[in-house]
Amino acid sequence: MTPIQTQDYSVQFNQDCYPALNTYISKNRFSNIFILVDSNTANHCLPILLAQLETDLTIEIIEIEVGEQHKTIETCMGVWQTLSELSADRKSLMINLGGGVVTDLGGFVACTYQRGIQFINIPTTLLSMVDASIGGKNGVDLDNIKNQIGIIKTPNMVLIDTNYLATLSSREMRSGLAEMLKHGLIHNELYHSKLSNLSNLTLEDLDQLIYDSVLIKKDIVEQDPTEQNLRKSLNFGHTLGHAIESFYLNHGTKALLHGEAIAIGMILEVYLSSILLDFPIEKVNQIKDNTIKLFGKVEIPETDYSSIIDLMKFDKKNDNGNVNFVLLNAIGQPKINCIIDNSLIIKSFNFYNE
Ligand code: GLY
Repeated sequence: MTPIQTQDYSVQFNQDCYPALNTYISKNRFSNIFILVDSNTANHCLPILLAQLETDLTIEIIEIEVGEQHKTIETCMGVWQTLSELSADRKSLMINLGGGVVTDLGGFVACTYQRGIQFINIPTTLLSMVDASIGGKNGVDLDNIKNQIGIIKTPNMVLIDTNYLATLSSREMRSGLAEMLKHGLIHNELYHSKLSNLSNLTLEDLDQLIYDSVLIKKDIVEQDPTEQNLRKSLNFGHTLGHAIESFYLNHGTKALLHGEAIAIGMILEVYLSSILLDFPIEKVNQIKDNTIKLFGKVEIPETDYSSIIDLMKFDKKNDNGNVNFVLLNAIGQPKINCIIDNSLIIKSFNFYNE
């Protein structure tokens, strides 16, 4: 697959990944290499990467615990300390090998260690391949508020090797699919309908769908890298989805994966689009049915509504005390900065539950 060249880095695919990485390492005079992994990628992915690396440089492995609950400043402290103890300097290279937690946190650590060292993302989950590893958003959560602390700085290279998906659970695969569905909804009806009819999916199809998703995200990010306007559309489904994810992260046994929460957020937000804009209600019902078929249904009790709504005050698109939603005029036609009355949000929860 042809590499995707963004304004300041390239995204390489499958068999091109490791030759590109080895060339990059040999061309830049790095002092040493640090590979950040979590306990899953240490077992399943690190041996694949190490077998492909051709370098005489010292390679140090830094392992963090797996899971969103470890995407914290305390985990960064541990990584910064290890880098410092192992004499990482400004010519060290950090390679983040993992899902969204590893690439977001590793990118943040790399951008801040000694005011910034080079980093390469090697995403190992579908979600990080199509979203987290691309576009330069790096950061950590603050208590249960997602990505409250962070920085936008693009990686020096991204390597997407879909062989890493072989050991991913189907639940994690579905979580990534939610972001791909979002790319279709905000940007391209044809892409969305391909994803909605997945019954005969081959591995080649999946590779092409991932490639197309990366192209959609690249196209949006390049027009608005610092999220002043168009990039906000990538947050479709996330205003309510993030609030739902944050709420259930700390409540009982219902913790949801990011994509599972975003899938609910997209149903709620297409419904709101049908009330406030011209989005056709038949399409809303189709999207709801398809999404629930794929992701199942999470009952959201009425008693949780107000706490979830309250959590939207932490959404990063807010300004002047307003919660700004992204809605859809139609598939592929997002409208940013929509303000919505709480009574309608409650109506959307009822629509999801009914
Ligand atoms: N994940 C949304 C963005 O990168 O803007």
